[in-house]
Amino acid sequence: MTEDLRAMGPDAGRSAVTGDVYDPRTILFHWLTAALVALQWVGAHYIDAFPRGPLRVDARATHICIGVALIGLLVLRLAWRTTRGRRLPAVAWAPARYLAVATHWLLYALLAAVLVAGVANTWIRGDSLFGLVKIPSLAPGDTALRHQVEEVHELLANTLLIVAGAHALAGIAHEVILRDRTLRRMWPAARPR
Ligand code: HEM
Ligand code: HEM
Repeated sequence: MTEDLRAMGPDAGRSAVTGDVYDPRTILFHWLTAALVALQWVGAHYIDAFPRGPLRVDARATHICIGVALIGLLVLRLAWRTTRGRRLPAVAWAPARYLAVATHWLLYALLAAVLVAGVANTWIRGDSLFGLVKIPSLAPGDTALRHQVEEVHELLANTLLIVAGAHALAGIAHEVILRDRTLRRMWPAARPR
């Protein structure tokens, strides 16, 4: 297998050869983000299942608070990545490597866009956080704008989920079919060989 990977290009299968893994903080940031994004997407679809009134307001406030935590997490993650976080070359032959890198940046961009649209959504509609903090509406009574921003937020969230799903399948295919340790190097229990 190692010989196959070497035949694909100079950096191909580098982790298969060296046994590189990401550092624990990068791994923590990655999986915490993935778990919270999944929780947000599923949870958002249950907000309207609560009866109108305080319960629905609290469900929305929970969605907003987890969203704000994700903003903090993304900032910390990017700060770590650009300073001390370990970066590994994508393990694949050249064209697929560009696709992997482009997908990773698309994921960061989509995540940032969903979060910004979520904040805009909250500010335009106005809200209450568990009855403790009141967020005034920036466009009171403008239901058309409110619906538009809500739709943009939902569309971006759905796109993020689709791209993340394709990215996850690619990671699994690398591990199971190409056996180049791509998934294992982002796995919490991974140890350098
Ligand atoms: C990756 C993070 C996020 C994901 C995946 C996500 C996903 C979604 C989805 C799918 C909906 C539409 C639910 C529906 O009506 O069927 C929604 C609604 C909403 N989101 Fe997010 N969201 C995220 C982050 C945020 C953030 C950061 C905020 C605000 C700070 C936010 C505020 C809202 C609000 C206010 C609604 C409208 C809820 C309602 O009226 O029922 N979201 N979100
Ligand atoms: C919402 C969910 C997810 C998001 C937003 C996401 C985002 C990302 C991003 C941005 C990177 C690039 C890291 C960097 O270089 O800074 C990455 C790497 C990676 N992700 Fe995800 N991911 C998600 C879910 C998953 C899932 C479910 C899997 C596996 C089943 C997975 C497997 C991997 C692997 C193996 C890498 C390392 C790839 C490499 O080193 O070439 N990710 N992810």
